[in-house]
Amino acid sequence: MATDRPTPVPTSPGGNAPGVQVNDLEKVFHTRSGDVTALTDVSFAMSRGDFVSIIGPSGCGKSTVMRVLGGLDTEFSGTATIHGQSPDAVRRAHRVGVAFQDSAMMPWRTVRGNLELPYKIAGETVDTSRVDELLELVGLSNFAKAYPSQLSGGMRQRASIARALVRTPEVLLLDEPFGALDDVTRQRMNFELQDIWLASQPTTLMVTHSIPEAVLLSDRVIVMSGRPGTIAAVYEVPIPRPRTAETLRSPEFHRVVDEISDILFGEDAQ
Ligand SMILES: Nc1ncnc2c1ncn2[C@@H]1O[C@H](COP(=O)(O)OP(=O)(O)O)[C@@H](O)[C@H]1O
Ligand SMILES: [Mg+2]
Repeated sequence: MATDRPTPVPTSPGGNAPGVQVNDLEKVFHTRSGDVTALTDVSFAMSRGDFVSIIGPSGCGKSTVMRVLGGLDTEFSGTATIHGQSPDAVRRAHRVGVAFQDSAMMPWRTVRGNLELPYKIAGETVDTSRVDELLELVGLSNFAKAYPSQLSGGMRQRASIARALVRTPEVLLLDEPFGALDDVTRQRMNFELQDIWLASQPTTLMVTHSIPEAVLLSDRVIVMSGRPGTIAAVYEVPIPRPRTAETLRSPEFHRVVDEISDILFGEDAQ
């Protein structure tokens, strides 16, 4: 239909509204023993509401990409935007939920206190029922009054994921969020994350070491290679949602997992 007015950019999730745009990202760390090029030539785009995973060998720059997009590292060349704004602006507007390896729980606050923190930082009233709901979801209702030092590594990781999700962020950045969990809990958390993502469709970027986890959750999987870190391949995951335990056994699922394994561990792998 012809119209003389410009098409409004949709503000709801989905469509082709810009989610994440990274162009020619390069990151050099200046260290005492010389310059380390952590990333070079990294370009990718996500639409709003996409779920994309990054997988690649240790040291290939995955966390560096996440820190740039989280607005925690602003010294880089190239461009990076989230929902049309700088990562720093999105972070300062409290629109991003982050669970990073180093985003530790505050040791002097209880688990509940840690989950309430994002509201306090954003200057909002704590939504107690949402906090309760997330505590329940990650299986920590009975540990609401515990301090982080009283939890196992896996429990702390679950608390950190709950904290990232509590304010239903527009953007979700997860850096190896499930690494400390046992296989059974990890799979349960994968399906819980899928449900949460389906409910509010935040633009989500997740780093993982698990190819099946990446394939299960993502629209696309970015495979990185190292020295210097760059994008080796991008895989579409053409599997309908919701994905279930059945999906994990399907030939389609195994085909995508195998293709990504070949790139990561095959002859061409670094
Ligand atoms: N603060 C830093 N100073 C110097 N080098 C760093 C720093 N952070 C990361 N690096 C280097 O950058 C590269 C990428 O690191 P990182 O993004 O943490 O990789 P990954 O998350 O894929 O394991 C590595 O070679 C690492 O040693
Ligand atoms: Mg890392």
